[in-house]
Amino acid sequence: MKYYSISFGFLLILVLPLILASAQNGKYERAAYHDSYEGAAQDDQDQGQGPATYDKNDDKESEPEQNDQNYEQDGDDNAPSLDTPTLLDNLASDDLLSFGYYSKSCPKAESIINKYVAKWVEEDRTLAASLLRLHFHDCAVHGCDASILLNHEGSERTAEASKSLRGFEVIDDIKAEMEKECPRTVSCADILTAASRDATVLLGGPYWDVPYGRKDGKVSVEKDAALVPMGRENITTLIEFYQSNGLNVIDLVVLSGAHTIGRATCGSLQFRLYNYAGTGRQDESLDSRYANFLKRKCRWASEYVDLDATTPQTFDNVYYKNLQAKMGLLLTDQSLYSDPRTSPIVDALADAPSEFFNHQFAVSMTRLGNILVPAAQDGGEIRTKCYSVNSNY
Ligand code: HEM
Repeated sequence: MKYYSISFGFLLILVLPLILASAQNGKYERAAYHDSYEGAAQDDQDQGQGPATYDKNDDKESEPEQNDQNYEQDGDDNAPSLDTPTLLDNLASDDLLSFGYYSKSCPKAESIINKYVAKWVEEDRTLAASLLRLHFHDCAVHGCDASILLNHEGSERTAEASKSLRGFEVIDDIKAEMEKECPRTVSCADILTAASRDATVLLGGPYWDVPYGRKDGKVSVEKDAALVPMGRENITTLIEFYQSNGLNVIDLVVLSGAHTIGRATCGSLQFRLYNYAGTGRQDESLDSRYANFLKRKCRWASEYVDLDATTPQTFDNVYYKNLQAKMGLLLTDQSLYSDPRTSPIVDALADAPSEFFNHQFAVSMTRLGNILVPAAQDGGEIRTKCYSVNSNY
């Protein structure tokens, strides 16, 4: 860990001024285009038709790579961070959340969550990425209050924008066990937050300590689900959306790195492949060979395609190298490399060792998980079932 600390420190000296200056005035020019990714294509375990995983050479099969990420959280306070003050620091999350919140009332809470996430992910590894995404969709609307889990008519969960969200059954299962162990004590919002951390670790990503004490909101409105970016937005819209949640441009780029794992449905990107923006051609910001692969792969909108074309099973910074190589799957991913406010951050994360991204991801995930909206918290409760409020409206 000492080695990481030294190299992080060194990297920080190199990239921090660039990143902060970029975040503030967007005047930095993008570093030279990198066309040197060497990522090995691998089997994405997709049983569907068409090429399973993008291979730059497009005619070779290669071995699945080993995941060798072993980031261990060891409480090193000297580890550098790109953390910058935001609105979030003014919210009450510091007062409401604490690390020892359940230490007396439900000491087994974390181990129950951990055990059940491991069990479900062992059965279906794709659930890990889905849990991470579910947590984002929760925190992005009314803060982290489990509003996305409510399943009544007209709730966020029933919206068109939520239709590909998964992992609800994992949270319900954990909650059922939690109610046996410590009734009406551990909120669904806390369970989802910890579950997404545990899922990240199982994928080979970083560990971070989760503070607890979130309340479950009682309000969930279908149309609010559309507030969450869906992949067609421009960078200004994304930055504004993050800022409205107390997150900054660094968080935007770092958290988008969650797309190092997981899948999208082809419906989220087909508009880039044909007559993009009325041009009659595909999106020019897309590598043409990769675009051809996607055209073959995406015959149906319901088909799945890996978000990270080169190392889809590995939690690493290759997602950013893909952007440098014009191989961002979603328009919003690729736009991070076209906009001068975000492209230097992409370069910094792509060019540094993967551990640097992992560390920053833990920092930004903590900030995401700490988004609390006073109205949801003040009027909140500890649900006994995560899919419905305790009492009827
Ligand atoms: C810039 C904002 C973001 C946009 C526009 C965006 C958009 C998307 C889209 C369109 C999909 C595919 C949905 C589908 O077609 O089924 C997706 C998947 C995913 N997103 Fe994001 N996302 C964003 C931020 C995040 C964040 C902050 C996280 C987590 C910290 C995240 C984690 C994921 C994961 C893990 C998947 C794959 C889910 C699975 O395999 O089931 N995304 N995202």
